[in-house]
Amino acid sequence: MKEAQRIANLPPYLFAEIDKKIAKKRAEGVDVISLGIGDPVEPTSTHIVDKLCEQARNPENHRYPSYFGMPEFRKAVAGFCEKRFNLSFNPDTEILPLIGSKEGIAHIFLAFVDPGDITLIPDPGYPVYNVGTILAGGKPHYMPLLSKNDFLPDLTKISEEIAKKAKIMFISYPNNPTSAVATLEFFKEVVDFAKKYDILVCHDNAYSEIAYDGYLPPSFLEVPGAKDVGIEFQSLSKTYNMTGWRIGFAVGNEMAIEALGRVKTNVDSGIFNAIQYAGIAALDGSQDCVKEMCNIYARRRDIVAKALNKMHLKFAKPKATIYVWVNVPDGFTSASFATHILEKAGVVVSPGNAYGPSGEGYVRISLSVKDERLEEALVRIENSL
Ligand SMILES: Cc1ncc(COP(=O)(O)O)c(C=O)c1O
Repeated sequence: MKEAQRIANLPPYLFAEIDKKIAKKRAEGVDVISLGIGDPVEPTSTHIVDKLCEQARNPENHRYPSYFGMPEFRKAVAGFCEKRFNLSFNPDTEILPLIGSKEGIAHIFLAFVDPGDITLIPDPGYPVYNVGTILAGGKPHYMPLLSKNDFLPDLTKISEEIAKKAKIMFISYPNNPTSAVATLEFFKEVVDFAKKYDILVCHDNAYSEIAYDGYLPPSFLEVPGAKDVGIEFQSLSKTYNMTGWRIGFAVGNEMAIEALGRVKTNVDSGIFNAIQYAGIAALDGSQDCVKEMCNIYARRRDIVAKALNKMHLKFAKPKATIYVWVNVPDGFTSASFATHILEKAGVVVSPGNAYGPSGEGYVRISLSVKDERLEEALVRIENSL
């Protein structure tokens, strides 16, 4: 038996690797604290859980769901986008429910990339942009996100030859892993670039609701003309502590939404209706639970900032996301620093180079851990230096 070349070329999935390391250390008896993955430890709000339980008992929901999501869920998405971004989408043609945004992000490449086509992806970036490209037979072209450019890609550095061959550009702000944010002026540059070279823009807005200090992240689609060239991926995972539920959505360009939907109808059978009802409860209900989480993450961000300052480590204080992107101390690489911390402090952080070559020299700290454990992890890191 021989596996396909397509998967032989795939890197191991970063977080699956981190999970293995944690399991090994725990088996050795180490009390490991993981700041590696962004996965909220607080539970999903009761009103959302209650809706799931109620709808799970209805046998109507035990059958195959609609391929395109329940009309009621798509309407709730439209309402959310209207309320939050002042944007109107047609629930029948411009909104597509997803089994988590990761699913849609992985599949969009199958809809738009032929073997040999180029994709423009951020470096460092969420690993699925790279993997999705490879699975479709495409060639990823990295757009470096550098501190000197506020972690925005410099579009003027993309050659005419590459731009002409590119089919998709992925961007994502608030950004994972750098936690950088973008302005509408930057999004406008992206729209102009995409129009010039006829590229589909995919904006991954998984962290749009997790922001601090009064900052409200925009939608890429707020830029006039953005819908002509782009779609946005949204997720209920981080917003409502629903990572395990697997529900998200894509909105925007009708042709792109239809193409992604065509791939999906052939490979999956939609989201359990009871989860979609719970999603409606989340999107339509009180957003106090979101505010509460933002306050919790802001408090943890400040705990991390104080500790990093004490250790004289450089970092940019995030305005959004649940991550802090930290420069490793002199003498370390991303990997050697992550390994040092794991071995000497029993703390897991993600090495920056795992998100792409320009992540070298950084590690990412996640704020999705209880305050006491976060504080203990920081003390242990300090003692290890
Ligand atoms: C930037 C980014 N996009 C998308 C996702 C996927 O989220 P989900 O599939 O849970 O909606 C994540 C998860 O960590 C992420 O960090």
